[in-house]
Amino acid sequence: MTEATARVQSAPLGPTAEHRGRVEDIADGVAMISGLPDVRLDELLHFDGGQFGFAQVLEPDRIGCVLLDAARALQAGDAVRGTGDVVRVPVGRGLLGRIVDPLGRPLDGKGPVVAAASLPVERDAPGIIDRELVTDPVQTGVLVVDTLFALGRGQRELIVGDPATGKTTLAIDTIIAQKDSDMICIYVAVGQKTSAVRRAVDALETHGAFDRCVVVVAGPATPPGLQWIAPFAGMTMAEHFRDNGQHALIVIDDLSKHAATHREIALLTRQSPGREAYPGDVFYVHARLLERAAKLSAARGGGSLTALPIAQTEAGNLSAYIPTNLISITDGQIVLDARLFQEGQKPAVDVSVSVSRVGGKTQAPALRDAAKSLRLDYAQFLEMEIFTRFGGTIEPRVQAQLTRGQRLRAVLRQPQHAPMRLIDEVALVLAVQEGLLDSLTPEQVGTFRDAMPKAIDETAISVARGNTATGTLTKEDRAALLAALRTLTAAVESPDV
Ligand SMILES: Nc1ncnc2c1ncn2[C@@H]1O[C@H](COP(=O)(O)OP(=O)(O)OP(=O)(O)O)[C@@H](O)[C@H]1O
Ligand SMILES: [Mg+2]
Repeated sequence: MTEATARVQSAPLGPTAEHRGRVEDIADGVAMISGLPDVRLDELLHFDGGQFGFAQVLEPDRIGCVLLDAARALQAGDAVRGTGDVVRVPVGRGLLGRIVDPLGRPLDGKGPVVAAASLPVERDAPGIIDRELVTDPVQTGVLVVDTLFALGRGQRELIVGDPATGKTTLAIDTIIAQKDSDMICIYVAVGQKTSAVRRAVDALETHGAFDRCVVVVAGPATPPGLQWIAPFAGMTMAEHFRDNGQHALIVIDDLSKHAATHREIALLTRQSPGREAYPGDVFYVHARLLERAAKLSAARGGGSLTALPIAQTEAGNLSAYIPTNLISITDGQIVLDARLFQEGQKPAVDVSVSVSRVGGKTQAPALRDAAKSLRLDYAQFLEMEIFTRFGGTIEPRVQAQLTRGQRLRAVLRQPQHAPMRLIDEVALVLAVQEGLLDSLTPEQVGTFRDAMPKAIDETAISVARGNTATGTLTKEDRAALLAALRTLTAAVESPDV
C-alpha cells in the first residue's frame, strides 16, 4: 500500500457536525446571532461572507457579536460559525517601525508583518508573585514630569486634560526621549483623527524614534470592534517584549474614545446603561487592560511594561465618570490645564492636581537631590503670587521668592519634541535653586537654556559622562557643574565681555 493510499484511507471521511448560527439583526458593527449555543466569550466568529467578529455578550438564546470587518455585505439571515479560537495578533520585533491595524495588518504599504508568534488579545495580567516593585526610572525628557512627577518602569500614569492641551504631544515626546534607550514603544491611536495620527508618526520619524516603535491605528471610521480591541491588541504586542525581559512603553490615545465605543457596543447589544449611559463594566474593562502593565520579577525575566493611557476631560472636569475611573485605576495622573496652555505655559501641567504615586522613588539620585524641595517651593510661589497680585508693598524676602518662582516657571516651559538629557535637567534645576537665573531677563533665561548643554559638555565633560551613566552626582561633579553654570550666567548677562 502506498503512502498516499494510506493517507486517503485514514482520512476522516464521515460526516462532521457543525453548529451554524444565523444573523438575526445587524446594526452599526454589532450583529445579534442565534443558533450557536456552544460559543464562548471572546470567541472568534466567522461569517460565510468572509467577515470576522467576536462574541462580546452571551445571552441564553443569542450572542452579541462585535464585527471586526465592515458590515456592509452582511444582512439578517446570513450564516455564521464559531472558530473555537479567540482574536489573536502578531507579536515580535517584526512589528518595529510599522503602522498596523489592531489585528496586526499593515497600514503602511511596507508588505506583510513578519511575526514571531500570534497571541490572544485578551490575556491575564501577571499575578502578585510574578511582580516586582517599580525601581527603575523612565526618563521622559520633559523637565516638569521628570522633576516633579517622575515615572518608573512598570508604572501606569494617566495623562488627562481638555481637548488640545498637549496630551498627545506629551506622550509622543516621551516616546521620542526613548530613541537611545532600551525601551520599545507602542503607540495605540483609538478613534483619533487621521491628521493627528499622521502628525504623531511624522514627529516620531523626524526625531529618529520610529524604528523602536509600533503604531497601532484604529481610526474613527473603522468598525467599532476594531476600535474596541485596539488597546488590548497593543497590550499584547507590548507584553511580548516585557515577557522576554525587555522594557516596553505603551501609550493609549485615548481611553475616553475607547469608553465611548464600549458604550456604543453595549447599547447596541442592549446591556443596561448606568452612569452617563456607560454600562457598569466599563471600569472592569479598563482595569483589566491596565493591570497588564507591570514590572516583572527577576524569575520572570525582569522585563517591564509601562502604560501611559490618555483621557479627555470637558471643561477641566476631572470628576466625570471615565476620568475618575481611570484616576483610581492608575498610579497617578498628569493633568493638563487649558488655561495654562492658553497662557503659553507648555507643557501645561497643573502641578496642584498632578501626582505620581510610585515613580518618585525611582528618580535618579542627582535629580532627586536637586529637585527635593521644588514642588513645595513652586506651590508656595503660586499661592503667594495670587496674594501679591493685589499690589501693596512686598517684603524683599517675598520678592526674592517670587523671582525664584518665576524663573522656575520659565524653565519648566519646554518646546515640543525637544527631550532633555538627565544632566541638563539636573543642571537647570540646580541653576534655579542656586539663584543663578534670578538676575536674568526672561529672554536671557531662554539663551541660558539653549547654550547650557554645550557649555556642560565643554567644561564639565566628566560630569556629563558620569551623570548619564549612573544618575548620581558626586560633590566634585556638583561643584564643577555649578562653576560651569556660573560662567554661563556671566556670559549670558554680558555677552560682549
Ligand atoms: N510643549 C509644547 N510646545 C509647543 N506647542 C505644543 C506643546 N505641546 C503641544 N503643543 C501644540 O498644541 C497643539 C495641541 O497638542 P496635542 O494635539 O498634543 O493636544 P491633545 O490634547 O492631544 O489634543 P486632542 O484633544 O485633539 O487629542 C498641537 O498643535 C501641538 O503642536
Ligand atoms: Mg491628542
